[in-house]
Amino acid sequence: MSAASPSLHSPEEVARRAKTESLISPRFYTTDFDAMDRLDVSSLRGEWDVMMKEYQGDNNQDHFQRDAKFTEEVHEVFSQVSPELRQEFLDFLITSVTSEFSGCILYKEIEKNVSNPDIKQLMHYMARDESRHAGFINQSLKDFGLGLDLGDLKRTKAYTYFKPKYIFYATYLSEKIGYARYITIFRQLERHPDKRFHPIFRWFERWCNDEFRHGESFALIMRAHPHLLRGINVYWIRFFLLAVYATMYVRDHTRPMLHNAMGLDSTNYDYQVFDITTEISKQVFPVSLDTDLPAFRAGLERLHQIQVRFNEAKARGGLVGKIKQAGLAVAGVATFAKLYFLPVKHHELPEQVRMAPAW
Ligand SMILES: [Fe+2]
Ligand SMILES: [Fe+2]
Repeated sequence: MSAASPSLHSPEEVARRAKTESLISPRFYTTDFDAMDRLDVSSLRGEWDVMMKEYQGDNNQDHFQRDAKFTEEVHEVFSQVSPELRQEFLDFLITSVTSEFSGCILYKEIEKNVSNPDIKQLMHYMARDESRHAGFINQSLKDFGLGLDLGDLKRTKAYTYFKPKYIFYATYLSEKIGYARYITIFRQLERHPDKRFHPIFRWFERWCNDEFRHGESFALIMRAHPHLLRGINVYWIRFFLLAVYATMYVRDHTRPMLHNAMGLDSTNYDYQVFDITTEISKQVFPVSLDTDLPAFRAGLERLHQIQVRFNEAKARGGLVGKIKQAGLAVAGVATFAKLYFLPVKHHELPEQVRMAPAW
């Protein structure tokens, strides 16, 4: 266990972990609701209406319920895993439930605060989905008596204000990367069912189609407001692409056992997820990161190493620990800046925005 070293044995420790504010932990967001209210998707009415019909059809209505085998598998398979893997898996569940719930809160708040019928309806459906997702994961924490009090989390976790455009870039990417992560795990365990150490992974295929559709919604919103995808905003897109990819890389590398247990290598898994996300993001972003560049890969690995040393310095404490942390923070920013200025790839945007989840 390198960077995260969570100790997750009581509901209090789990709650503390979910409320942690760090560069790589999931956040809660709030935004400018009046600006959200002014969005106008009428230029993409056809594609928008097809999507709303899908939300209305609600093809995952019956999906987020456990089957008879679920508890059996928790007892028979999961009880065999090592205490270290158990800790990493719990950490995975906590960050996942926190991100799902983060979406749920944000979408619900937007729904409550706008009167624009397109946006109101969309937010209603997305909040519905995320609330199911968060509840479903939380049940798996409850199996160990470690369920999160989501109401308490909502009241007490810090909120970050993001302008709507930053919400679009960040949330679009986290929905699509969420899809790519879940489908990659699902396909791997479909090929190697003996490595499925917890039944929750059986739910990932239909689950990730929700995330894919949420991403589609933000793609349509951005394409209906093309100034968000031009000029200076392209630099913001590059920033969010890198921030989301780097966060995922560092976070995943703090949980190597989780991937190993599935027969995956964290680095290969992450680059596979980046490839899928990059391919999808061409529907909306005119640039993508060249994740195959050796300098890119070296930079991400350096960020991971900096994070490991940062956590060691933090654990050490005292003045020396503080000075070390400050030095490492500077090194982290410098590495991020270097990564930011690496060459990127440019794309023409396709005429039709929507894509099918084909992975
Ligand atoms: Fe979700
Ligand atoms: Fe989502």
